[in-house]
Amino acid sequence: MAFMASTEGEYRLYGDLAQWWPLISPTQEYADEAAYLAAALDSAERPVREVLDLGSGGGHVAVHLKDRFSLTLLDISQDMLQVSRRLNPECEHRQGDMRTARLGRTFDAVLVHDAVDYITSTDDLRQVIETAFAHCRPGGIALFVPDYVKETFHELTGGGGGGTDGSGRHGSFVERTWDPDPADDWVQADYEITLREADGTVEVVHETHRLGAFSRAAWLSLLRAAGFEPRAGPAVLPAAGLPGGTKPAGRMPDNLFAGRRPATRQGA
Ligand SMILES: C[S@@+](CC[C@H](N)C(=O)[O-])C[C@H]1O[C@@H](n2cnc3c(N)ncnc32)[C@H](O)[C@@H]1O
Repeated sequence: MAFMASTEGEYRLYGDLAQWWPLISPTQEYADEAAYLAAALDSAERPVREVLDLGSGGGHVAVHLKDRFSLTLLDISQDMLQVSRRLNPECEHRQGDMRTARLGRTFDAVLVHDAVDYITSTDDLRQVIETAFAHCRPGGIALFVPDYVKETFHELTGGGGGGTDGSGRHGSFVERTWDPDPADDWVQADYEITLREADGTVEVVHETHRLGAFSRAAWLSLLRAAGFEPRAGPAVLPAAGLPGGTKPAGRMPDNLFAGRRPATRQGA
């Protein structure tokens, strides 16, 4: 049994354990949300073809989007990028920090899925939103999918994974997520990750992650300050705005924020 005390942002899960990611967080778990996100991306004022995914991890969202969009996948972890390159060889991969990355080009849309959980201060969240704005073309859209927001956070005990690969390895986890201090903007996830090798050897890794849980008001005000027109939840993709008022495809994420970048400067 191994215990790990992580410094913020340097988690074994995305470092030396990254090769286990496809077993701990199987790709099929992302399919329904990805379908909804695809529809939300398509709701941008401009046609969306080129999409930047900030914090793309193992590329498990990307794998469901890559047939419809041309994706550039950015993550801070080379180990996670290596996993994603195997799954999504046709996508461009870039190493960088979503707070400060500047790729020197723009995209029709920017997606920041659950990796935004690793942003735990308002100043860092402002930087991430500014990164999204800097890479988003006028008329484009940026989508943010945090696991938690302050108002709806409640302590949870759960688990997941359970994937196996061709070699017989198996990975799963249990988690307890709780809020040590409701006055700040982060919560704590205590993970117990069980890794079983093909020969039956088992390692259990304990790792504690710090995850952002910002208020809805903070999200909306930071989006607005960056220059986006902010939307949240069902307002991102109202059925009324879809052809014939049809129900959006897939499943709306529990928490979804969008910034629409105006096509032209207001009042210009
Ligand atoms: C939960 S995983 C993302 C999984 C991803 N949605 C997928 O489809 O596989 C979180 C990811 O955020 C990345 N990350 C954390 N902080 C980051 C930062 N500041 N900039 C870029 N990536 C970051 C980690 O390296 C990790 O790959």
